[in-house]
Amino acid sequence: MSAVVGVAKASAHWDRMYETATRSAWTQNPQVAEEIYLRMTGQPGFWLEWLFTQGMSPVERLLSIGCGDGSHELAIARRNFAHHVTAFDASPVAIQLASRQAAEEALAIDFQVRLFEDFVSAPGSEAVFDAVLFSGSLHHVTDVEGMLSSVRHVLRPGGRIIVNEYVGPCYQLYPQRQVEIVNRVLDSLPLAFRMGVDDRLALPTMEAIIANDPTEGVRSALIPLLLPLYFRETYRRDVGGALLHPLFGYLNGDRINDGSPESRATVHMLIALERELTHAGVLAHDFMFGIYQRD
Ligand SMILES: C[S@@+](CC[C@H](N)C(=O)[O-])C[C@H]1O[C@@H](n2cnc3c(N)ncnc32)[C@H](O)[C@@H]1O
Repeated sequence: MSAVVGVAKASAHWDRMYETATRSAWTQNPQVAEEIYLRMTGQPGFWLEWLFTQGMSPVERLLSIGCGDGSHELAIARRNFAHHVTAFDASPVAIQLASRQAAEEALAIDFQVRLFEDFVSAPGSEAVFDAVLFSGSLHHVTDVEGMLSSVRHVLRPGGRIIVNEYVGPCYQLYPQRQVEIVNRVLDSLPLAFRMGVDDRLALPTMEAIIANDPTEGVRSALIPLLLPLYFRETYRRDVGGALLHPLFGYLNGDRINDGSPESRATVHMLIALERELTHAGVLAHDFMFGIYQRD
């Protein structure tokens, strides 16, 4: 498959996701979201709030790359964490949703339809941004080296790159042991919490990767290794996700997120289980959060 076809497929895939309001399943659960924020920042509460009050100072100009429908960028502009926000994404549907919301709230955010590939080849003027944000988008970039080099070009000296990302196995081709653990945990749950008894985690085939989204985790495992070659690390947390992220894709969202004592206790137990298995070194960290600086 050529790179051009891959990008077209990925942007059609994301248009469909935004049209149907499909979200990553695990962080739709409030207990899981809280736990992830805690792992990212060491404190309860939304990570963006921590980022711009304790992690770093508010900035003048921020660029967000792969902004989707703009939830993070809108939050940043609402709280005045950046005075000028520029944000782009491949999905015209997502950018339309983001722009409409910004207009409704009279927030001056410059949302653009633009491809990673175009930014990599023509990033624009040097040293114009104080911060660049990747939230769930860098793991969709094929030319990670080209992207980091273009980000370094547009960041002013001392500027920050903020990375909140999936950094697990490329294409989510998990080690067999991880697949077995996820499925054993899934099998131990009452059927009511599951999508169906036959729905179990299986590694994607190449055909499924191409048909679904050929950029999903395309070079994700390289991200933590490449970042320090371009920027100085000033903050980093590994945030787990090797059990909860794949598992929630196979849970009945209506039931597991219904807030009942049974579902809350089950999610509590699943979070504890992931924490123990990760601390024991049985599971790797599939997600990371970091702040890096351009010297
Ligand atoms: C997991 S979503 C993250 C969206 C958003 N940052 C968030 O936190 O909700 C990944 C985003 O990357 C965008 N994307 C994927 N491939 C792209 C490309 N080649 N150029 C620009 N954006 C792309 C998708 O359209 C999608 O909105």
